[in-house]
Amino acid sequence: MARESDGTWRTESRLPVEPVYGPGALDGWDPAEKLGEPGAFPYTRGVYPTMYTGRPWTMRQYAGFGTAAESNARYRQLIDHGTTGLSVAFDLPTQMGHDSDAPLASGEVGKVGVAIDSLEDMRTLFDGIPLDKVSTSMTINAPAALLLLLYQLVGEEQGVPAERLNGTIQNDVLKEYIARGTYIFPPKPSLRLTSDIFRYCGAEIPRWNTISISGYHMAEAGASPAQEIAFTLADGIEYVRTAVAAGMDVDDFGPRLSFFFVSRTTLLEEVAKFRAARRIWARVMREEFGARDPKSLMLRFHTQTAGVQLTAQQPELNLVRVAVQGLAAVLGGTQSLHTNSFDEAIALPTDKSARLALRTQQVLAHETDVTATVDPFAGSYAVESLTDDVERAALGLMTRVEDLGGAVAAIEHGFQKGEIERNAYRIARETDSGERVVVGVNRFQLAEEEPYEPLRVDPAIEARQARRLAELRAGRDGGAVRTALADLQRAAQGTDNVLYPMKEALRARATVGEVCGALREVWGTHVPTESF
Ligand code: 3HC
Repeated sequence: MARESDGTWRTESRLPVEPVYGPGALDGWDPAEKLGEPGAFPYTRGVYPTMYTGRPWTMRQYAGFGTAAESNARYRQLIDHGTTGLSVAFDLPTQMGHDSDAPLASGEVGKVGVAIDSLEDMRTLFDGIPLDKVSTSMTINAPAALLLLLYQLVGEEQGVPAERLNGTIQNDVLKEYIARGTYIFPPKPSLRLTSDIFRYCGAEIPRWNTISISGYHMAEAGASPAQEIAFTLADGIEYVRTAVAAGMDVDDFGPRLSFFFVSRTTLLEEVAKFRAARRIWARVMREEFGARDPKSLMLRFHTQTAGVQLTAQQPELNLVRVAVQGLAAVLGGTQSLHTNSFDEAIALPTDKSARLALRTQQVLAHETDVTATVDPFAGSYAVESLTDDVERAALGLMTRVEDLGGAVAAIEHGFQKGEIERNAYRIARETDSGERVVVGVNRFQLAEEEPYEPLRVDPAIEARQARRLAELRAGRDGGAVRTALADLQRAAQGTDNVLYPMKEALRARATVGEVCGALREVWGTHVPTESF
């Protein structure tokens, strides 16, 4: 939050903030049109009639590092501490479709997430965790289909039918081109793969959320709240258009789209942002795509507190920031929440800091009164004004994306990236000048920072994972793998849904790197031009 040179405040979306909002702020403001009832169009007040009075949000802590066994231990700890949903972080080699023993993987195996090369690793990851009793989110994009199928194969081994599986794959490659960078294939085959996943899940895994259209990473790259929801919803529109163009009915896949946003410390604007996003999406799905199923109109989302607002200085301060950010997500009606650990600006969370992060949610859910009533800010002069302002700014940006030809065309113009980079630069300048206060960093600093002992990932993990791969390749039927990969390539060259031959290849113990390698041979890999 930064004060303007004339002393007035502007929001993170650069919108004016009135020092006092009075009845006049809502002149002509019609609650029937702007709000509707909770769980009813346009869902401004939340997607369920009872929201947290019926069921608290899912406490879904993003976790994963090292080998599948080490991450399995962390998941069991989180379940023991009361987490109500799992969320898998994969290491970069897995996210980029390379095996742990690939030269490109060196130095990254098990580092920012868990190393998954094969069905063996996936089985170990969920060892002792009944897949019909948990919902699991997987932050995986380009190889999302593979990890979904490995999850389904582990479910089969546990005797859990696919229709009982519940979870989400992020599967949002467009934002990878804009902000995060873990893409593999060019946009066209990537969007084909996304449609194949929609169709496959519709037929085989009906309770699976097929995509988590993400604004979080754009926000972490510097997007303002209005930019975050505008570019995310524009990506959503692109995915819906692609699936409709592939011959699917919007109500066949609309109910299983989901979203993922950040939650910043600027609580009031964040609550307004979430409410505005629900209202925009409900109208887009009904008016542009003619969706009729109410579930297609509901913007259900996961929130993660803002990693970029964590500081390495006086790290305990992050406990306070995360509590405020978590409260903002809950007051904004999130369905699922990850609260960051206070030490994440320094290193991977320790067991204690990961537990504290979860406990923060449990205090919000069980010691405050924010679960007692739905959308408590409804009718607030300030928050309803901010909701309208953020909505108006977001719609303006969505129109500019549309004028460029939609999200993919705008990406090719570098539009979203450019807008975000300009905003990031402004934030950095305000922080450097001190206009934007970051407690402990540019004000209220300590003369001497206190020592902190971070968690370290065992460097021997790479060799251990390479040995597991060698054993896997020695013990499998190589001919069956080659045949299955050839079937996959034939489907990729044609129009058949690639997930069916892909599942058989993974079942035959083809590795993540081999399956992605087979697809790279057919589809090539994306090479960012300067315009991307
Ligand atoms: N009344 C009636 N029903 C209710 C209810 C209420 N008040 N509250 C919940 N329910 C029902 C729901 O209808 C649902 O039933 P269904 O499965 O039959 O539809 C069930 O209870 C579960 O509720 P939700 O679906 O609302 O909650 P989930 O937690 O299951 O799903 C989600 C939430 C947002 C839809 C889902 O997509 C999800 O979990 N997303 C998580 C994404 C995630 O964790 N991403 C991590 C990214 S980290 C990252 O990117 C890396 C780093 O760079 C940040």
